[in-house]
Order: sequence, then C-alpha cells, then structure tokens
Amino acid sequence: MFQLEGQTAIVTGAATGIGEAIARRLARAGATVAVADLDLDGASEVARSIGGASFGLKLDITSSASANQAVAEAIARTGRVDILVNNAGIAGKAAPLWEQTDEDWQKVIAVNMTGVFNCCRAVILHMRERKYGRIVNIASIAGKEGNPNMTGYSATKAAVIGFTKSMAKEVATEGICVNSVTPAVIRTKILEQLTEAQISYMTDKIPMRRTGTPEEIAAIVHFLSSPECSFVTAQCYDASGGRATY
Ligand SMILES: NC(=O)c1ccc[n+]([C@@H]2O[C@H](COP(=O)([O-])OP(=O)(O)OC[C@H]3O[C@@H](n4cnc5c(N)ncnc54)[C@H](O)[C@@H]3O)[C@@H](O)[C@H]2O)c1
Repeated sequence: MFQLEGQTAIVTGAATGIGEAIARRLARAGATVAVADLDLDGASEVARSIGGASFGLKLDITSSASANQAVAEAIARTGRVDILVNNAGIAGKAAPLWEQTDEDWQKVIAVNMTGVFNCCRAVILHMRERKYGRIVNIASIAGKEGNPNMTGYSATKAAVIGFTKSMAKEVATEGICVNSVTPAVIRTKILEQLTEAQISYMTDKIPMRRTGTPEEIAAIVHFLSSPECSFVTAQCYDASGGRATY
C-alpha cells in the first residue's frame, strides 16, 4: 500500500521536525527524497541517515530563484519530481497585532505564503508535462480557527488552504492532486518560538488533550503523496486531535 518505489519527493523544511518525519516516511515507502532546507548541514545529515539515493538540498523558499534551482537540481539528479511537500514554515513573533512590526509581518508572509507559491510554481510545469504529481501543503489549524497573538501565522496558513483549493482546480484534469494538512500542536522546535502560555492555550483546545507527533502528520502526508490518492484533491485534512470538525 502507498508504495513510492522509483519516485522522487522534495520535502521542504526537512532538516528537522515534521518535515524530517515526512522525509523518513516517504523514503521508507521507496521514494528518493530531496531533503530541502535553509539548513543544508541538517538536511544532509537527515539524507545521510535515510540512506539510498536521498540527498540534502539547500533551499530558501522565500526566493523564487532558490526554489527554481532546487527543483532543477532534483530533476537533474533523479530525472523526475513526483511529489512536493511544502512543509517549511515559521511561527513568527508571538505577540498581539499592535506589537507586530512591518518586518515581523513581511517575514511570516515571505516564508509561509510566498514560499508555497515559489515552490509550487517551480515544479508545476514539470508535473504537467509528465501528467502526474502530488503536492501536499502543510497549513495549520491556526488557519481555520485563528490563534490570538499569531495574526500573521494564522493569516498565512488560511492563505495556504485557499491557495491549495485554487491550484488543485487548475490542474485537476492533469493527473496532479494538491491537498493541504492542518496540524494542531506538534512537539517540534517551532514551539521554541512561542511562550508556554501560548502552547497551553492551543493544547487545551484539543479534545484528545495531547500534542501530536511528527510521525502522525507524516502518516496522512504519505497517503496524500501516493498514487492511491487519485480522486482526492483540493482538500484540507485535519490532524488535530479533533480540534476542528469542519
Ligand atoms: N509544530 C506545530 O505545532 C505545527 C502545527 C501546525 C502546523 N505546523 C507547520 O508544520 C510545518 C513544520 O513545522 P515544524 O514544527 O516541523 O517546524 P520546525 O521549526 O521544527 O522546522 C522547520 C524547518 O523549516 C526550515 N525553514 C525555515 N524557513 C525556511 C526557508 N525560508 N526555506 C527553507 N527552509 C526553511 C527550518 O530550517 C527548519 O528545518 C510548518 O509549516 C509549520 O507551520 C506546525
């Protein structure tokens, strides 16, 4: 089930956290993974420990040139890109709107929103030519519910959900499926950008009364990245312990 033998996947922000778990899971299913991150040393280390033909890739998703270059390198090395997982993201400054500077706002938009645009645009013509592709965008429950003190983050993650639905419809007849995933609180380094009070606020709202694990997100991404995900597109999947029911 969900075999990815012979396929190439690019996973952004895969040097750690949820992206690393996704990279490991897709590789276990047979994919060659381009472990792409700002942190090339961390990405290369993950790729080394995955083994096989997987490789680390330097990528700054805020730059369209960097995204184009990363996709070109993945194609040059493996001849194809079947899967793109847009996972890289930042929490931004945890503070009320009136304490957010222009720079705080622009930074979270550049990474979480423009980054998804840059990477999708870099890969889409290749996928259209091959009439096959799976794209999974990691949004957040914050994009559905809105978390206080995270206006920029919540806005960008809502944007990722809308972007996914729109793009999916543009390529729906071309063998390309585009879906998003909305995790609730997952214990990774991103939480170091938030206060304990902010984390408790988010965890208290989860009916399962616990945080999720990166592996639990990787499991749903694995299905959405597979050939079996063939009649599912433009969807947004919650992995939130029941926090949102819509
Ligand atoms: N952890 C959570 O609670 C949670 C909840 C919902 C959604 N998410 C989303 O899941 C994704 C992964 O989160 P995580 O918790 O694993 O984060 P993390 O901070 O642990 O890891 C993020 C990775 O992205 C990389 N990165 C940051 N900016 C980049 C850029 N410009 N170009 C390329 N790589 C860049 C970092 O170097 C890092 O390796 C993010 O999009 C995040 O918003 C996380």
